[in-house]
Amino acid sequence: MMADAKDFQDRMLSLGLARVSEAAALASARLVGRGDEKAADQAAVNAMRDQLNLLDIAGVVVIGEGERDEAPMLYIGEEVGTGKGPAVDIALDPLEGTTLTAKDMPNALTVIAMAPRGTLLHAPDVYMDKLAIGPGFAVDTVTLDMSPAERVRALARAKGCAPSDITVCILERPRHEAMIAEVRATGAAIRLITDGDVAGVIHCAEAEITGIDMYMGSGGAPEGVLAASALKCMGGQIYGRLLFRNEDEKARAKKAGITDLNRVYTRDEMVTADVIFAATGVTSGSILSGIKREPGWMTTETLLMRSKTGSVRRMTYRSPVK
Ligand code: FBP
Repeated sequence: MMADAKDFQDRMLSLGLARVSEAAALASARLVGRGDEKAADQAAVNAMRDQLNLLDIAGVVVIGEGERDEAPMLYIGEEVGTGKGPAVDIALDPLEGTTLTAKDMPNALTVIAMAPRGTLLHAPDVYMDKLAIGPGFAVDTVTLDMSPAERVRALARAKGCAPSDITVCILERPRHEAMIAEVRATGAAIRLITDGDVAGVIHCAEAEITGIDMYMGSGGAPEGVLAASALKCMGGQIYGRLLFRNEDEKARAKKAGITDLNRVYTRDEMVTADVIFAATGVTSGSILSGIKREPGWMTTETLLMRSKTGSVRRMTYRSPVK
């Protein structure tokens, strides 16, 4: 049967999206391990924006570099693409893990997701309490309302193993000290990460490869929507609740159209339609290889996924250095 035109376009667009995340990674390559987070981020932003603007889409950035007055490029609300194709929402993080890149530590990625207009949560730049597990478990096997220890025990029961066989990934932050202590008291192991919770969540979707069963803790809300996009393609559950530290942050949420400040969002409430997700490794990690540099060449690895078909592609790209 011949694929219909829209489907075909969707597929071609997904390849275009891979080029966008590749371009951002290649641009930040020279800044890996150079101790300059800002320069690495800026290089990725410029390259991602240039490449994105070549795509035949009428795109609007809904998760981006910040509010218009804070970010000159790829700000929330910026129109991207040629304007000639489908109306889409774009969620992006040109460099997820700026510090990881500057210090040449694992799991820095460039990330972008695209979905039909109006279908990605316009998450404000506040924290989000997150909880994620991989595919194959009943809905609500673990919930945000459970204590950290209850989550470990519930997942162990569902997996048919002991709590001590569970590994949880958590961002190492003072705000997570009590959570870390409670999880350790169950006997579970913790993979502490210093940054990069999009990768942290994705780890759960490939537990047999990464060794991580569950992600929990607070991190950026925009990263939560990117992680939800990835899990929508790979399978798995994620829950997110926005956290507000002051009135200004509440005002940001209202501006983004959010009225119920205590709402728990499921994966499919953060991403309400089919999504295309691309990520390219900047530094090596358990999900993707980092950029390899050799005289005359750079090689990247990109993960490209479509939730519509559940397709997961890994692409290596050897690019001549100009
Ligand atoms: P950057 O790439 O912007 O540096 O963000 C990295 C990150 O670790 C995210 O993955 C995470 O969601 C957030 O920062 C956590 O925020 P904080 O450092 O304030 O705890």
